[in-house]
Amino acid sequence: METEIINWKEYIDEEKFENLLEDIFDSQGYSISLFNNEGKKLVRKNRDKQNHLVCEELRENENFCNEHYLKAQEAITGKRGNLSFCAKNRERFLFCAPFKTSSGKNLGAIVACKRAKVFDSHGDNLEENEEEVNFLKGITSLLADKIYQDIEIRHLSAELNAKYEELALLYEIGEKTLVSDSKDESVEYIVTRAMETVNPSLVVWSVREENKNIFYRNPERESEDKFISDEIIMEICRKVSRMSSRSREPLILNNLNKYREFAGIWQDPINVLSIPLVSDSKGFGSLNFIECNPEKIFLNDQLKLMESISRSTVTILKNSELYEKLQKLFFNVIRMLLGIIESKDTYTEGHSKRVYQISVQFAKILKLSRKDIFDLQWGAILHDVGKITIPTEIIKKPGKLTSEEYEIIKSHPVKGAELVSTIDEFKNAVKGIRYHHERIDGKGYPDGLRGTEIPLIARIIGIADTFDALNSARPYRAKPSRAFVLAELKQLASTQLDSLLVELLLNNYELFIKLLDSEDYELFEDTNIKGIW
Ligand SMILES: [Fe+2]
Ligand SMILES: [Fe+2]
Repeated sequence: METEIINWKEYIDEEKFENLLEDIFDSQGYSISLFNNEGKKLVRKNRDKQNHLVCEELRENENFCNEHYLKAQEAITGKRGNLSFCAKNRERFLFCAPFKTSSGKNLGAIVACKRAKVFDSHGDNLEENEEEVNFLKGITSLLADKIYQDIEIRHLSAELNAKYEELALLYEIGEKTLVSDSKDESVEYIVTRAMETVNPSLVVWSVREENKNIFYRNPERESEDKFISDEIIMEICRKVSRMSSRSREPLILNNLNKYREFAGIWQDPINVLSIPLVSDSKGFGSLNFIECNPEKIFLNDQLKLMESISRSTVTILKNSELYEKLQKLFFNVIRMLLGIIESKDTYTEGHSKRVYQISVQFAKILKLSRKDIFDLQWGAILHDVGKITIPTEIIKKPGKLTSEEYEIIKSHPVKGAELVSTIDEFKNAVKGIRYHHERIDGKGYPDGLRGTEIPLIARIIGIADTFDALNSARPYRAKPSRAFVLAELKQLASTQLDSLLVELLLNNYELFIKLLDSEDYELFEDTNIKGIW
């Protein structure tokens, strides 16, 4: 078994330690040298000039030094077991012993020496000698215990710190991904945080379903790493992903050149940590951490942490899949409703879509908040949904409507608002539906609101609705000219329509008119409404 080399000096408070040595050894007339278990001298303390010379001699006089240093080495390697030994040589007394804790942990060796004042070479006092040796043995063990305690405390606190950082990271990721409704944004956040923690050359998210690899290069490593082409990285990721998805277990492959599958891919050793993104029923791909510096190998601790992170990623991917399915279902229902409404009147085909698109253009110019945009979008899409309750023969009636029939038509904003108000998410969008036929002068319906009493989203939907109607052909008229539409708009400003919105429309007329004919509908990416049309 490999022995762990302990450079214990890194773990001690040097000043305190020096004082301790001074108290113990200096006062007893000793100079000491302490070695780590590799034989490297970490501490040397000379008491006085003569001792200094002795120690110098230990170091410099080859015969003397080698003999005793080798004995210290034997103490280190344990060849002499726990035995310490003493040597008296002329005027010197030398003590060499393993530097071991009371629990047997080997920290290296201790060599202590002093002038042989106590041990006269002509009259050995063995008793005193033994007492001295026992004293040194005891002190050595106490000292080793003290150092080992410091090492353990430092290790524990480092471990605690690492654990705390892991927990904080997992907590942050959990928090962030709870509030974000964008799958890509969440995964990118996770990858970025993981990159900060592991600091590899790059991370590649292999997305299985779309069969693509998304690269996240580490900006901090750009100058340091040798350039490896995207093709080679992709080839590596393909092979590693296949291995990790097959086993459904995370993998550490330090030095790919060792593995037959990767022979000849890249001349230098590359290290890879691959985390499969799998749930019980499905594989979503993998997160691959690539390290181009062969010395920075991936460790098991990193694997464990990344495994926890991958669980959050899988949850996001699963939720997002579920969300997309539900959204598709919901959009299908909406499309079906719009289909029913528009089938009641062939002249209004595509009307809801155009009102939506014009409203969105207003929202962009007015720089509305994300929340208002959401309400406006759904209000616009569903503004005429109440028409579903109006008999087709009334809607399609070619001649003049009776006042009774007109009242029925006028009920559609209230009916629509009632229908949509059952959906919690749309409680503000409902205002756009209920009030889209109100007029600025208070002569609109259903409530006769005036000016700014009419919610902004309803005023926007109102002008979008009118603009589309003005530009549409009717059974009784062809598509009107631009001059006619412009004149009508100006006339309706301040009576039916919000004059500021009319001004906005006129100032951006080309932009708006293009939207009526455009098939290429620009949508707000961040409101997740893509795919409804
Ligand atoms: Fe309407
Ligand atoms: Fe309408």
